[in-house]
Amino acid sequence: MKLRHTHPAKTILRVAPALLVLCATCAALQQPLQAAPNPNKGKNKNKSQSQAQPQAQYKPITIATAGIELILGPGEDGIFSQLYYGPANREKPAPPQRKQRRDSSLRENEVYPQYGNGFIATPALRVTHADGNTSTDLAYASHTVTKPADDITLTRIELSDKAYPGLRVALCYRAYRDENIIEQWSEITNNETAPVTLYNYASAALIASAQSYYLTQLQGDYRTEAGLTEEKLVPGIKILDSKIGVRAHQFRNPSFILSLDGPAREETGDVIGGALEWAGSFQFAFEVDNAGRLRALCGINPFAAEYRLDAGETLVTPALLHTYSTEGKGGMSRNFHRWARAHGGIRDASKPRPVLLNNWEATHFDFDENKIISLFDGAKEIGADLFLLDDGWFGNNHPRDNDKAGLGDWEPNAKKLPNGLTHLADAAKSRGIGFGIWLEPEMVNPASDLFEKHPDWVITQPNRAPLLRRNQLILDNNRPEAQAFERGIFDRTLAPNPGITYVKWDCNRFVTQPGSSYLPADKQTRLLVDYQFHLYDLMRYFAQKYPNVMAMLCSGGSGRVDYGSLRYFHSFWASDNTDPRQRVFIQWGFSQFFPSESVSAHVTDMGQRPLKFALDVALSGAFGVDRDVARWTPAERAQVAAAVKLYHDRIRPVTAGGALYRLNSPYEMPRATLEYVAPDRARAIVFIYNLDKSDSVFPAIKPLGLDAAKTYRVREINLPASATTRLAPYGATGATLMRDGFAAPVSGPLESAIIEITVE
Ligand code: GLA
Repeated sequence: MKLRHTHPAKTILRVAPALLVLCATCAALQQPLQAAPNPNKGKNKNKSQSQAQPQAQYKPITIATAGIELILGPGEDGIFSQLYYGPANREKPAPPQRKQRRDSSLRENEVYPQYGNGFIATPALRVTHADGNTSTDLAYASHTVTKPADDITLTRIELSDKAYPGLRVALCYRAYRDENIIEQWSEITNNETAPVTLYNYASAALIASAQSYYLTQLQGDYRTEAGLTEEKLVPGIKILDSKIGVRAHQFRNPSFILSLDGPAREETGDVIGGALEWAGSFQFAFEVDNAGRLRALCGINPFAAEYRLDAGETLVTPALLHTYSTEGKGGMSRNFHRWARAHGGIRDASKPRPVLLNNWEATHFDFDENKIISLFDGAKEIGADLFLLDDGWFGNNHPRDNDKAGLGDWEPNAKKLPNGLTHLADAAKSRGIGFGIWLEPEMVNPASDLFEKHPDWVITQPNRAPLLRRNQLILDNNRPEAQAFERGIFDRTLAPNPGITYVKWDCNRFVTQPGSSYLPADKQTRLLVDYQFHLYDLMRYFAQKYPNVMAMLCSGGSGRVDYGSLRYFHSFWASDNTDPRQRVFIQWGFSQFFPSESVSAHVTDMGQRPLKFALDVALSGAFGVDRDVARWTPAERAQVAAAVKLYHDRIRPVTAGGALYRLNSPYEMPRATLEYVAPDRARAIVFIYNLDKSDSVFPAIKPLGLDAAKTYRVREINLPASATTRLAPYGATGATLMRDGFAAPVSGPLESAIIEITVE
């Protein structure tokens, strides 16, 4: 049997005749890549695997975490419905009577509705069978419950169609007990005798029933990423999607917040949060019917993506991560953050993210070896951990002196870097800092040796002139030679240079001509779906072969940020917009789903603002600097160095791993307050920003999440040497602090403050 693994959480099988073998195989391979250590993980694996017996029929199946339950029930007719999704401790509606014969009304709560035999809304699954029949009618067949780890339960429900027994669908749910996260996907197997075509193949079709639905998306564009936009849903379908292939979004992130309780609030109210583990074209379709019921179809975008599934193949859809929070968006975010840290959603969660000095904003393409080495001295002076050499270091026949040439030719440019990358890595090491490089492995410029040799390796439409974006084209990774070439980029640059300990992986364009000269005519519409599986293969290859090389995910700013990719990356570049006033909004948006240590945030020259404001904004994320340090005055350099030290010693230990409370939203007033509380609640850090260009009166800052009984000391940190705080250090119990708050030592235009709260 030939297995093809897309990423550790999921498995794609090109040929998978035996489903139960798949289940066991997957379980063994599904350990996340280098998840944070979990002492209980795997302890009962053998025991629990052997308990995987098919369960009795017609009893509700509960997918449960510590705090939430998703209850599914097969009726006597085998139709499989969602009976409940919400908090575990809430009264559940009585299960509906299932004695009657099915009719279309009985299918409205169907867990994974299929097209063609009674269901009349948008289906999760639409298949044309080998004989041309366009209907599918799945009923419960069996299910298994296993425990891949003490705190994880995997429920796998097999559905089958009596008339077409060759088509099998498994609905899979991994429930993470302590984080209240459910990871849900489907596996569609064609055991018919000839290919079938999948037109719709959602990962999940969640149902909600509430008085009103408010939907929030993370929407934007290059330099305005992750803006929060909320709207009330009305009957009909609202679609959030992307159709541009290789990077999930230019315009929106593959995540959503659905409030069931009026417009979403920060710490109260019922909210469902969803994030798809997919960096390709996605679709969330929210359909409200006449009965006021909402179905959220989530998965790969079915638009122009008919998937011809050959006999013997299984398509494993990307997983939707979702949670149900009764503590509003704040509770939702904390569940996602805890999950990402505990279960490998971000790579090596427990490893401190280094302070980077990146040269992109400082030099763009205009540098040589001497210039770069001179920047190392600045990196050392401010206490940075690592120098990251950005775009422009490669290409000889087609030097990468601008964005018109060189992509694909990954050898150091001999004119700019006569002594190569090893020399640079050594020079950095001799100053006590690490060294990293920028790569864009999926791309090629027409002006490159690679394109001259292999013009047919790119994604474009035959018989059409190739359309360039940023002067580049995308390699068609469906073609095995292109896959091997992409793996070789890492092997040629990293293997001979062990001094390179960091990679920024960029992706600066999306697909505008989805055609492949490699795929046969009847598989052209698989191109972008399979691209994504191959991309995850490449990311996994890199992460597993070079486990000590840390990595930042970048895509012309943050065009690619998803939990399918992030398990291979330590952080992502949130935006090329580093004006800190606008960065507050961008980072606020991403904080809905992604923990602070995954959000790379650098101080640059952008924006008319005090240096302290830029530092305070960047210090709330994975901190770095993107500037020629020598151009700062000695006093400014000392200020930045002091901030780096503070970040290392007192800020990062709390923000990385801390519980986030968003105290004042910049969407309500031009000011923002964020708080991180360490897991033991002995420390908290509060970031306060006045975004107004004039004075602003802040309300008292009331921290959350402290231990009510403990006494804390409150003091301002990261003050420039010349400044004095307006908040005299004082002590108070957690209860008093959370009730009365403290006065913000901030009022003037673009003033900011960082407050440290520590147990006395
Ligand atoms: C993208 C990234 C930038 C930089 C450039 C280099 O735009 O977002 O940070 O790396 O590419 O070309």
